[in-house]
Amino acid sequence: MEKQHLYIFDTTLRDGEQSPGASMTKDEKIRIAKQLEKLKVDVMEAGFAAASPGDFDAIHSIAKIIKDSTVCSLARANENDINRSGEAIKPANSGRIHTFIATSPIHMQMKLKMSPDQVLEQAVKAIGWARKFTDNVEFSAEDAGRSEIDFLCRIFEAVIKAGATTINVPDTVGYNLPNQYANLFKTLRERIPNSDKVIWSVHCHNDLGMAVANSLQAVLTGGARQVECTINGLGERAGNTAMEEIVMAIKTRHDIFDVDTRIDTKQIVPTSKLISQITGYPVQPNKAIVGANAFAHESGIHQDGVLKCRETYEIMKAEDVGWKTNKLVLGKLSGRNAFKTKLVELGIELSDTALNTAFAKFKELADKKSEIFDEDLQALVSNVANNGSDSKNFENNQIATRFKLVYSHVDSETGEMPSAKIIISDNGEEKTGTATRGGPVDAVYQAIENVVNSGAKLMLYSVNAITTGTDAQGDVTVRLSNEDGSKIVQASGADTDIIIASAKAYINALNRLDNYVKREKAQGDI
Ligand code: KIV
Ligand code: ZN
Repeated sequence: MEKQHLYIFDTTLRDGEQSPGASMTKDEKIRIAKQLEKLKVDVMEAGFAAASPGDFDAIHSIAKIIKDSTVCSLARANENDINRSGEAIKPANSGRIHTFIATSPIHMQMKLKMSPDQVLEQAVKAIGWARKFTDNVEFSAEDAGRSEIDFLCRIFEAVIKAGATTINVPDTVGYNLPNQYANLFKTLRERIPNSDKVIWSVHCHNDLGMAVANSLQAVLTGGARQVECTINGLGERAGNTAMEEIVMAIKTRHDIFDVDTRIDTKQIVPTSKLISQITGYPVQPNKAIVGANAFAHESGIHQDGVLKCRETYEIMKAEDVGWKTNKLVLGKLSGRNAFKTKLVELGIELSDTALNTAFAKFKELADKKSEIFDEDLQALVSNVANNGSDSKNFENNQIATRFKLVYSHVDSETGEMPSAKIIISDNGEEKTGTATRGGPVDAVYQAIENVVNSGAKLMLYSVNAITTGTDAQGDVTVRLSNEDGSKIVQASGADTDIIIASAKAYINALNRLDNYVKREKAQGDI
């Protein structure tokens, strides 16, 4: 049987970025967009053009660079948002405007303070404004999962008539169950006379842990042919539908699904790692497909079975989703060329200056750690990106680095309170701080605060080992909020010494907070 195409619409750069602290710089968004193109997503939602000049600029730049995926911008159903989106996607080979308005009684009454008729009229106008820029227009009925079916039929029929080409039915608050959500699609497609003119799209949030199940059921029995999703399930609150799970469910159960995607599944794990490193959101070890344990066998019975016949306990091949065995790649004696070639193999392109810095850091790491794995190199490049060294970085929308760690010393002894001394460069001026606290990391963080006086609050601290072995690098993630709680950032730092990794992560987060202040000042918002 000929399989129908299932469109994969990635919204990591838009809905994914709405996770607390996951905001990305333009440079980081471009790196992700290039990787999403390699992964072969059909559509990438690059941002929300009207949200800020920075968002507009990132979408515009992505639209210039990306050739093989449609580049989309989100817009509320108003003329200004749609004009900003239209301008932002102008350079794209293929561009889309995605406009939305809420349709549930609670959203219309409490949030929009509009009647259903006003909402419908606004939606139709929005499609008209969007069609002036492109004939690829998506309409979303926000909170469709809690909207009245008669109203959904009315508004969808009207926007299709007005020229919408994709209709998205979001379960915005993750309230639906699989059968209910799939039936919603079935009913809509049966009752709306012009329903066959458009592609029907799912967009599920994971509040009840059912985003993937709801999306798959809507594809299987509801006739949906576009899935909106994010890498690692990143997104608001409990997140969005995880792309890797959708794609691999469809590929692995091709006996059940009559659809196929064009995703290059070997790019799944590299993409997952890139997103995790850039956003600082670690992937839980038992996460399906991309978790470190997803293909690990612990019990003797399972190991024995897999050695005799892989399929006894594996339904997918690790290599098919981009896992490589943890092979030794480079050592202390490797030269710059070998280093560069390996980075290119890992999909990492660096300017000559960044390559020199990364190579110097690699040599330092090779002195401390006998075996250097792919994961170490990815973390190292991420560290270099976070510590970009000149003021140009800010103009380039990378993370400007006001603070740098120069020196760190911790005394920790049984029965004694650990004490720390650190030296930080603050815009080139070295400052020393000391502190004694209940734990070594706590002491280092207090010593940094004694110098910086940021007033930032630590909201999350987590440590993961990047590879196996006792000489593995520790990857520390921290989430900080500024003093008044209005900005939240997340950052990570890696080092073979987890105290230093912790200090790097904290300083990277402080630099991110500092960047926000500078960017807002530059935009005249404060
Ligand atoms: O969850 C949602 O409803 C959304 C819309 C903007 C599509 O993200
Ligand atoms: Zn959403």
